[in-house]
Amino acid sequence: MRLSSRLPQGFEPNALTAALTRLRAQGREVLDLTVSNPTRCGFTYPEAEIRQALSQPTVLAYDPDPQGARAAREAIAAHHGHGLRAENLLLTASTSEGYGLLFKLLGDPGDEVLVPSPSYPLFEWLARLEGLLARPVPSYFHDRWHLDLGALEAAVSPRTRAVVVVNPNNPTGHFLTKAEWAALTSLCARYGLALLVDEVFADYALEPAGDRMATALLDPDPPCPVFLLSGLSKVAALPQLKLGWIAGRGPGAAAGLEALAFLADQYLSVSAPVQAAAPRLLELARPIRAQILERLQANLTVLDAALAGQPPLSRLPVEGGWSVLLRRPAVDADEACALRLLEEASVLIYPGSFFDLPGDGHLVLSLLTGESGFSEGLHRIFPWL
Ligand SMILES: Cc1ncc(COP(=O)(O)O)c(C=O)c1O
Repeated sequence: MRLSSRLPQGFEPNALTAALTRLRAQGREVLDLTVSNPTRCGFTYPEAEIRQALSQPTVLAYDPDPQGARAAREAIAAHHGHGLRAENLLLTASTSEGYGLLFKLLGDPGDEVLVPSPSYPLFEWLARLEGLLARPVPSYFHDRWHLDLGALEAAVSPRTRAVVVVNPNNPTGHFLTKAEWAALTSLCARYGLALLVDEVFADYALEPAGDRMATALLDPDPPCPVFLLSGLSKVAALPQLKLGWIAGRGPGAAAGLEALAFLADQYLSVSAPVQAAAPRLLELARPIRAQILERLQANLTVLDAALAGQPPLSRLPVEGGWSVLLRRPAVDADEACALRLLEEASVLIYPGSFFDLPGDGHLVLSLLTGESGFSEGLHRIFPWL
């Protein structure tokens, strides 16, 4: 059987995952400082209320709307505010599925999308599986992260269809500034591109908004089509419920949503129970997010205290999101360093290279880890850095 060339050549795990599996099989207890699954981080969920929300009588009815149940869309619109309305929204089973639908909507095979770098490493595959090429455009760090607007414009080709930004970025935590937003949307308008804005972490700002775009929805009338992506996996820390959404705004967005509904109608992948529960789940999400924000801040405090005694090490500022970048002397490649920390200190940390951080000298830590585990992990790795 011949497989599609869109797939990888092989499915072998990378060296870090292979080493982790080997060590765990040997009975080694590994401290995981990469954990991004909020259901495994000791947060207190209102369990009875969540179960009750998922067991209303309406969960037994099947009355699909390809755009998603109206009551769920109304609740999501209210969650976002900024004039967003139910008709501007389409529900998906996840943000990743939202990318798939948008890439199908916007591109023909061989077309390109510009994606941020460093960033969340899924774009290459999400684009490729739709027959598109994800072309990374580097951001740079100078006191804070910046979009390289010159590099972005230089990367636009006749085959470019869309620009993807993550606001705030994972793992850099970079929120776009208002000036970056204005330049980005006018560039997209000039070249006829759609702008996809992933805001799954927008509720987790760790610094005052200042000149930042706390959300793309602050712009009521962008000059290009804007499609915002988000979902319950971060907004309510409930990734297992599988509910995401796309919000459209700007010229052509209404027609885009109509075509997205046609695409979604081919799958109807969002379950009725989660749609019925969504309004209540969004109400229940607020105290869960509050616990997460507290955890993120507490771990940053733990990290800063630990770094005070480690002059060669430092961290980058975190504007938002669930990750922090640790800077270390680049005595070896990031991946070799992560392997060393796993083997010698029994601590799992992602190398910066997993997220396309330039050069060597960055490690990526999850701020979601329980505080005592986070603190212990730091003290275990420091002697090896
Ligand atoms: C930036 C970003 N977008 C999207 C996702 C995926 O979200 P979902 O679970 O809704 O597919 C993640 C998951 O970590 C992410 O980091």
